[in-house]
Amino acid sequence: MSPSRLNASLALLLVVIWALTWAIRQDPGRRSHAFMPEMASSLTHEPQAEGPWAEGLPPPPPEGSIPRGHPPLLFGAGKEEAERAGRQLKNPFSPTPKALERGAKVFANYCAVCHGSAGAGDGTVAKVGVPAPPSLYGASARGMADGRIFHVISFGQGNMPSHATQIASEDRWKAVLHVRELQRRAREEKR
Ligand code: HEC
Repeated sequence: MSPSRLNASLALLLVVIWALTWAIRQDPGRRSHAFMPEMASSLTHEPQAEGPWAEGLPPPPPEGSIPRGHPPLLFGAGKEEAERAGRQLKNPFSPTPKALERGAKVFANYCAVCHGSAGAGDGTVAKVGVPAPPSLYGASARGMADGRIFHVISFGQGNMPSHATQIASEDRWKAVLHVRELQRRAREEKR
């Protein structure tokens, strides 16, 4: 390429670069284009933001969200629903030493105050005048399917309140294992 043609090409290139720089120049007064803006401004509620929820309460979780350890209970309250749970639900855990250990802990923390440490119905609460729960080795509790006991823990029954919010679903099932273990021990003692 002759020097004059090279010079002409370089000059043209300069013009093109200048034109491009002008065309895509930044306007400091305008917001630049955001790529994937969800990363910068998330869909969750901003702290301190005003919202439609009542003052002093945390914002409600997004619709359809499932809290960890609390899968939706596809049953209602009441005896019929408890019986349906007994027919339809199976304990997802087997009585391994580890699961039983956990179940015993849950029972000691949440159930023994009323039911007594071994489930005989002689817990502290019963001793101070609150109507005592029936023994967990009684014919009624022994005749309940695992799913029904899970339902009783989740929804309550009579004077027993629901424990669905304070005990995770997995731990409720392990408490059921412990109730079965208490019943087994009571049977063996009788022999
Ligand atoms: C506040 C006291 C209280 C606590 C805590 C409590 N229960 Fe109960 N429970 C009761 C009472 C009272 C009854 C009897 C309810 C009725 O039918 O009137 C009962 C009933 C039951 C029954 C059915 C017994 C039957 O024969 O009908 C089971 C099973 C049971 N509870 C298991 C548990 C387990 C497991 C826990 C712990 C996760 C627990 N309960 C926590 C008071 C309590």
